[in-house]
Amino acid sequence: MMLKPSRATIVVERYPGTSRILHWIIALLVLATWPLGLVIQFLTKDVSLTVYMLHESFGFLVLWLMLIRVGNKLIARAPKSDAPKIERLAATTVHGLLYLLLIVMPLSGFLATNAHGFPLLWFGLIAVWSPIGTAPAVASLFSTVHLWSAWILLLLFALHVAAVLLHHIVKRDLTLYRIL
Ligand code: HEM
Ligand code: HEM
Repeated sequence: MMLKPSRATIVVERYPGTSRILHWIIALLVLATWPLGLVIQFLTKDVSLTVYMLHESFGFLVLWLMLIRVGNKLIARAPKSDAPKIERLAATTVHGLLYLLLIVMPLSGFLATNAHGFPLLWFGLIAVWSPIGTAPAVASLFSTVHLWSAWILLLLFALHVAAVLLHHIVKRDLTLYRIL
C-alpha cells in the first residue's frame, strides 16, 4: 500500500504585529546608530559633522519609537511561552534591560549634546527644543552615561543574539518565528 505524504502544519504564536514591526524598525535603527556613534571620533571635522547629524537624528528617532513601544507593550501581550521558568526569567530580564537602555541611550545623548551647547537640528531640518538648554555643569555627566550605556547595550545585544542563535541552531525550536 502506498502511503500518502503528509504535511504537518506547525502553529507558532507570534508577538502582535505592532510589536514585530517596532522590534525590527528599532533594531535596524540601533544597528546603524551604534557604529555611527563609534566612528565619529576617528573622522576628520568635515566628515564628522554629517556623521554626528545622522547619528543624533537616527538616535533621536529611536527615543520616540521607544516611547510608542512602551505604550504598545502595555496593551499588546507577548505570546505565551512553554520554556522553563529560568529561561523565561532570563529573557524577560534581558528584554527589560534592552527597553531601559534604548531609552537611556538616546535621552542621555540628546541631553549631553544640548548641555554641551549643540542643540539638535533633526536631519538638518527641524530644530528640536531642549528642555535644559546649554548646561556645562551637567554636560560631562550625560556624556559619561551615554558612553557607558553604549557598551552595556552592546553586551545586552550580544546576549540577545546568542540566545536567539542557541534556540534556532542548537535547540532548533521556533523562538525566532515569534518575532518574524
Ligand atoms: C539608540 C540611540 C543611540 C545609540 C545606540 C548611540 C550610540 C553611541 C555610541 C556607540 C557612541 C560612541 C561611544 C564611544 O566612543 O565609546 C556614541 C557617541 C555619541 N553619541 Fe550616541 N547613541 C544614540 C543616540 C544619540 C543621540 C540621540 C545623540 C544626540 C542627540 C547622541 C550623541 C552622541 C554624541 C555627541 C557622541 C560622542 C561622539 C564623540 O565625540 O566621540 N547619541 N553614541
Ligand atoms: C539582529 C537580529 C535580531 C534578532 C534575530 C532578534 C530576535 C528576537 C527574537 C526571536 C525575539 C523574541 C524572543 C522571545 O520570544 O522570547 C526578540 C525580542 C526582542 N528583541 Fe530582538 N532580535 C534582533 C535584534 C534586536 C536588537 C538590535 C534589539 C535592541 C537593541 C532587540 C531587542 C529585543 C527586545 C527588547 C525584545 C522583546 C520583545 C518585546 O517585548 O518588545 N532585538 N528578538
